[in-house]
Amino acid sequence: MKPLRIALTKGRLEKKTVELFEEIGLDCSILKDKGRRLILPVGNGEMEAVLAKAADVITYIERGVCDMGVVGKDTIMENGSRFYEILDLKFGKCKFALAAPRDMDFYAGYHSKKIASKYPGVAKRFFESKAMDVEIIKIEGSVELAPLLGLADGIVDIVETGSTLRENGLAVIEDITDISARLIVNSASLKLRKPEIEALAGKLEAAIVNKEKEIKK
Ligand code: PRP
Repeated sequence: MKPLRIALTKGRLEKKTVELFEEIGLDCSILKDKGRRLILPVGNGEMEAVLAKAADVITYIERGVCDMGVVGKDTIMENGSRFYEILDLKFGKCKFALAAPRDMDFYAGYHSKKIASKYPGVAKRFFESKAMDVEIIKIEGSVELAPLLGLADGIVDIVETGSTLRENGLAVIEDITDISARLIVNSASLKLRKPEIEALAGKLEAAIVNKEKEIKK
């Protein structure tokens, strides 16, 4: 049978996924010494890892060219969810928050606020839920710059340690939602390769539970 193809978000989530795979006994030596290759065998050939950018992981799963994927909840929230999200992998933990300059009363005044974000969909839904009319400006990265340059009143962004906000004179106004990495599965793959996918997800879940127990000790 063809190897199960799993798309991994390149970078930090990829490293954490490799750690978790090794904990369940999958051989990741080729994946760890990959050079510039983008498709790599995992385990004894039963799986194949595809290294992609976060939003592309979702595209590959939705279009069925990969069976499964590891991607942040932030990317899922921004890019839709025509797939099954089957497991919270409990790493890549951070949160979405609304932030603004520390010395500013964000809600003061009646003018319509300008909000910069790499996640315009998430920002739009957040302000809609508050019935607030805002203008959303899409920024590709280092979103913290937008209020510093006077382009926006606030930002909707990811906060992990909080140091980027702190070091740039910004502070959280409101937490929006917690984020972590998720295991997602193409809907046809979940039907056609159910036993393999469930076996893998079961092992991963047990490893995650064990890890959390270790941390609590
Ligand atoms: C993310 C996020 C913040 C920062 C938060 O950016 O957009 O800028 O990390 O982390 P912290 O709370 O630990 O400081 P990333 O490093 O992914 O780069 P980007 O801003 O270019 O998207």
